[in-house]
Amino acid sequence: MAERLQKVMAQAGVASRRASEKLISDGHVTVNGQTITELGTRVNPGDKIEVNGSPIEGSEKLVYYLLNKPRGVVTTASDEKGRTTVIDVLDEVKERVYPVGRLDYDTTGALLLTNDGELANQLMHPRYKIDKVYVAKVKGIPTNDELKALRLGVVVAGKKTAEARADVVRTDHKKGTATVQLTIHEGRYHQVKEMLKAVGHPVIKLHRERYGMLEVADLLSGEYRALRHDEVQYLKNGRQIRKSSGRL
Ligand code: URA
Repeated sequence: MAERLQKVMAQAGVASRRASEKLISDGHVTVNGQTITELGTRVNPGDKIEVNGSPIEGSEKLVYYLLNKPRGVVTTASDEKGRTTVIDVLDEVKERVYPVGRLDYDTTGALLLTNDGELANQLMHPRYKIDKVYVAKVKGIPTNDELKALRLGVVVAGKKTAEARADVVRTDHKKGTATVQLTIHEGRYHQVKEMLKAVGHPVIKLHRERYGMLEVADLLSGEYRALRHDEVQYLKNGRQIRKSSGRL
């Protein structure tokens, strides 16, 4: 849960709340490397808070999990309608993790959860281009021209999507449906559903099979596992994350 920066500093024994506020407004405090001077700023567990360059004490151990998100679960820490959240699914995790990005209620597949705010911010920054590989069952069978349009970009909410990979991997002519594999690196709202709708093929079912190099093929729906050290390093080093070169 996000908390006010001055409260977190006071709880960590840095200084009183009022003295912490002064440290913030005087520009002595950074969160994930950025100087913060605004007093209302909220921080998440795992955010790296430093005062004059020294990290504050009491931070949780940093943990990283890959979940194969089941259908019918919300990607938030709490839900006002009382629906099951991804945090409820990670029932044996003690740390206060939160999801990196989001998947829709009815979307399944790869979701990273962590309490490492610095890495989460890095991964969600538009400058980084993480491959997200989706498989979508769609109505109708996309033509080559429609696939080409998906690859080059289609207009969604008034803005063209970036280059993508798009292929039909299966067709069911009897039912008039197809399975499309779509690789994108943006994270716009309902992006995959909107892209496929834009070319006339509404999504029936959506699954994210890969996030960066993290695949969920070996996890059953609702299963999760801790990332290996090398996987965390890969994410941190930006390997498999392409910086904006304009190409996929
Ligand atoms: N695109 C969507 O439309 N939904 C998701 O859950 C993820 C990407």
